[in-house]
Amino acid sequence: MRIFIDTGSVAEVEEVAAWGVLAGATTNPSLLAKEEGDPGQAIQRICALLAGPVSAEVVSADVAGMVREGRALRTLSEHVVVKVPFCAAGLQATRELSADGHPVNMTLVFSPTQALLAAQAGASYVSCFMGRLDDISVDSSEVLGGIVATLRPGGVTAQVLAASIRHPEHVVVAARLGCEVATIPGPVLRQMLEHPLTAAGTERFTADWQSRPELGAWLDGLVAGAPVAA
Ligand code: E4P
Repeated sequence: MRIFIDTGSVAEVEEVAAWGVLAGATTNPSLLAKEEGDPGQAIQRICALLAGPVSAEVVSADVAGMVREGRALRTLSEHVVVKVPFCAAGLQATRELSADGHPVNMTLVFSPTQALLAAQAGASYVSCFMGRLDDISVDSSEVLGGIVATLRPGGVTAQVLAASIRHPEHVVVAARLGCEVATIPGPVLRQMLEHPLTAAGTERFTADWQSRPELGAWLDGLVAGAPVAA
């Protein structure tokens, strides 16, 4: 499963991109509205940092507006994926945009039947919101599993994208269910780094090594004599 970052913050993408684990990003109007500055520049900077798919969402409610905004968003970068909310107009806009070669992430998908329609309209990604399902006491793993199981036998190319991730367990569930992508907020990605045994183990290794100073001197010498990477 590929990992995207779910954010409108260039600084957050810069921080996490350095880990070498990100394949793309998703933004949405709420995330971009939290940030200062020009949203177009932020999207372009995120595209440049990741050189992978970066979803940017249309906000019009009618087909013509969605298509117009989608085409305009695509001028920002070849990496932009047009994010279109699920509804009848969104399906029609997805069909038009995808027929013109613009990749679409159909968002706000909460059921296998919606996912089927999104895939048939030509969406490249179908975004199912786990956290928002759990918020209304609907088991997100059931729904997400249903979406994966429903799309797979049909041979559709749409990738299932797990969104609205609230904690690391959502990520594990999405991967186990066979989602192609999970888009994860920065705080959850940072949580995924942590384990008390990792911290304790690192502390123990450091202390044991430092208890023998000659070992440190040996390693320093080895490093000094090693060829410098190009
Ligand atoms: C991503 O594509 C979605 O817009 C995002 O994950 C929604 O997350 P939220 O439910 O935490 O707002």
